[in-house]
Amino acid sequence: MEAASMANNNNHHIIMFPFMAQGHIIPFFALSLQLEQKGYQITFINTPLNIANLRRILPPSSTIRLLEIPFNSSDHRLPPNSENTDSIPPNLIYNLLVASTSLKPAFTNILSEFVNAGTPPLCVVADFFFGWSAAVSHEFGIFHLIFSGAGGFGLACYYSAWINLPHKNSDSGEFVLPDFQEAGKLQVTQLTPSLVAATGDDPWSKFQMKYLPTWADADGFLFNTIEELDKVGLSYFRRKFGRPVWAIGPINLPVNGPRKNGGIETELWLQFLNSKPPSSVLYISFGSQNTISASQMVQLAKALDKSKTNFIWVVRPPLGFDVNAKFRAEEWLPENFKKRMEDENRGVIVEKWAAQVEILSHGSVGGFMSHCGWNSVLESLSRGVPLLGWPLAAEQFYNAKMLVEITEVCVEVGRGSDFEVRSEDLREKIEEVMSEDGKGKEMRKKALEVKRMIEEARRGSSVAAMEEFLRAPLLMKNSTINLGHDY
Ligand SMILES: *[C@@H]1O[C@H](CO)[C@@H](O)[C@H](O)[C@H]1NC(C)=O
Repeated sequence: MEAASMANNNNHHIIMFPFMAQGHIIPFFALSLQLEQKGYQITFINTPLNIANLRRILPPSSTIRLLEIPFNSSDHRLPPNSENTDSIPPNLIYNLLVASTSLKPAFTNILSEFVNAGTPPLCVVADFFFGWSAAVSHEFGIFHLIFSGAGGFGLACYYSAWINLPHKNSDSGEFVLPDFQEAGKLQVTQLTPSLVAATGDDPWSKFQMKYLPTWADADGFLFNTIEELDKVGLSYFRRKFGRPVWAIGPINLPVNGPRKNGGIETELWLQFLNSKPPSSVLYISFGSQNTISASQMVQLAKALDKSKTNFIWVVRPPLGFDVNAKFRAEEWLPENFKKRMEDENRGVIVEKWAAQVEILSHGSVGGFMSHCGWNSVLESLSRGVPLLGWPLAAEQFYNAKMLVEITEVCVEVGRGSDFEVRSEDLREKIEEVMSEDGKGKEMRKKALEVKRMIEEARRGSSVAAMEEFLRAPLLMKNSTINLGHDY
């Protein structure tokens, strides 16, 4: 195999294997770029269409090897060319998850070819949805780590909720996680629809109960997080699995790295931000995977209008409409709202995608209304920007919970896409966070402390954790004491 013959230094070859979702692929890719900088040879495995997309953003000078693993979505009751959660409707994500387990024989073949060529990799770094890849790696005596782009606290709640289904025994709609009580009380409204419906006998439950326990087979865990910020969540995994857990974040794409072009849109928001006082602009984005309902959109627009807050709002078509369709402001926003906001230089409405990191880095931004996806959380806190949390899916509910209750840099303004949000309530919370004194001031101070914490981790704890994780497979190889497995 060509790929195998190129891996000439076994101790510097790492295999990366993320699940087929942008929110997973990007942190893996960012980690790959960092490891490449340290002199590691990376083989990045994914399905053909995802590899083709990565090839477009791979810096020409990069030595990262993109390796296709055979997959045809038509074989798995998925529409043609469905290889990423970004390109399928939410109700098919389960099918894609199930389909991904079919990658096992092909993944086994890839490892076997490396081993037969005399070039076994130093370790496999795989997705938490690919817990099964630990047993495969161990068949070949290869060290195996799970890397989570999600934070420790969020993933701990997710894991515990699926393993224990604690809401089943609660009549009040409130419950605690039996093996993660430090997380405090949770509400049924903080569970995704598949978790609310989970009985233990449904397909989702069966899938999770089969694959989540395979995490115990991994030799350790890597998290895109900061030890000091995420202690509570990380301690859950240390206790649960008795394996090393390394906080190596924040792992992000280099700012001048692979990004989409800004062009005219960049001019628009940059001019706008330059015209505003420090910390006076609210940035609003619900991420690349989520959107809110049409009625929620109207409530938010009214709240912005009344609060007189400056804003940049990244809009996508509301729930129920084709996410790739053109945004119809005249239909989905209050009459004349967009034009009036622009004419009054009050707000900028950006369609689909904005240069989030650059916007958050601008001194005029004072708050971020976010779905609390972990990447967005880290991007916001790395710049000392407090959040208005509106979690919509997955472990976002628990990220928001941590930010509100433990880190105290967030106010929750909404919860899920069925949530009946009122413009008055939204307006109050926007004014609270954006205010120059009181709670707003307090939160900005806390957010700046977290910013410093992250800067210190970048030079301290995260660097040390990265070095430790890279030494671990060698320690295992060179010693008769393994990490608790019989290979
Ligand atoms: C995937 O499978 C379908 C149905 O068998 C076939 O028509 C299509 O050509 C396949 N696609 C690729 C890229 O092989």
